[in-house]
Amino acid sequence: MTIFITGASGFVGGTVARRLVEAGYEVRGLVRDREKAEGLRAMQIQPVLGNLDDYELLVQEASRSEGVINAADSDHEGAIDALLEGLKDSNKPFIHTSGSSVIADDARGNAVSAKVYDEDTPFVVLPFKQPRRDNELRILAAKEHGIRAIVMCPSNIYGTGSGLTKGSFQIPFLVEHARKSGAVRIVGEGVNRWSNVHVDDLAELYLLALRNSPAGAYYFIENGEASFAEIGASIAKRMGMGPVQSWSAEEAVPHWGEMHTHYTFGTNSRVRAKRARRDLGWSPVHTSAQSWIEQEMTA
Ligand SMILES: NC(=O)c1ccc[n+]([C@@H]2O[C@H](COP(=O)([O-])OP(=O)(O)OC[C@H]3O[C@@H](n4cnc5c(N)ncnc54)[C@H](OP(=O)(O)O)[C@@H]3O)[C@@H](O)[C@H]2O)c1
Repeated sequence: MTIFITGASGFVGGTVARRLVEAGYEVRGLVRDREKAEGLRAMQIQPVLGNLDDYELLVQEASRSEGVINAADSDHEGAIDALLEGLKDSNKPFIHTSGSSVIADDARGNAVSAKVYDEDTPFVVLPFKQPRRDNELRILAAKEHGIRAIVMCPSNIYGTGSGLTKGSFQIPFLVEHARKSGAVRIVGEGVNRWSNVHVDDLAELYLLALRNSPAGAYYFIENGEASFAEIGASIAKRMGMGPVQSWSAEEAVPHWGEMHTHYTFGTNSRVRAKRARRDLGWSPVHTSAQSWIEQEMTA
């Protein structure tokens, strides 16, 4: 069974692709760099040279595959259009990767939100996240066009990728900042909380969804949560550094930019993976981002 995956050289896509190969699937992976293409080949992933703007290529790859996983860019509308076009009226699965920042607030690190979302919670989306939400809704509606469309909404992903890209985004960013500046920093008091999930547990869920998810299903994905103060303390411990230092949002913006300050590190994004556990029997094995940081992360 052949699966086409975008983002095959990335952290999420690479780990998912390798899990699919291990499970016996033939995997074709979109890649835009020739050297990375050879890296994929060495991992038994058939490279497809191109990028997300290559509309015809994506239509063709989707239509010749038994299923598609989009793990390159949650917000690339042209790629979504092409993949849906290629799968139209096929009843094949299409798994799209979104992200739980879609429900994030703007707490600037100074408040814990009481809002914890599961798949039945009505959505409140900040205006600048509306395009991402619109894409999610458009994909879910594709079940009306003969596509087994599924949206994955992972929270903060941690762990070491098994593909070409080993590191995720949030935790490695804080580690890199600490390495360069000599201090682990967080926004505000860092009491804001994000759910999180290990990349290997995430890949397992993609496999389950590919096999068993119904059309039109939306999944939040987490296996725990932590505040940024807790994440920062674990990084400091792992790196042998002093206490975590606080930056107000105003202090952080010149260094980290508006986006990271307000929407990556200063926000709450608390979700519960109710549906994955209940409907797909997903049973994650990793328990805590903090224990991964302290015991396994390469500092
Ligand atoms: N990591 C997390 O914690 C997390 C959490 C929730 C949601 N997500 C979402 O999951 C998706 C993947 O994240 P990630 O952490 O795996 O990111 P990543 O490691 O940066 O991987 C992204 C992959 O997509 C490829 N790509 C990007 N733009 C492309 C284009 N125009 N044409 C062809 N390939 C393109 C990249 O190719 P190159 O190798 O050539 O750069 C890379 O292989 C993103 O949409 C992200 O928002 C991530």
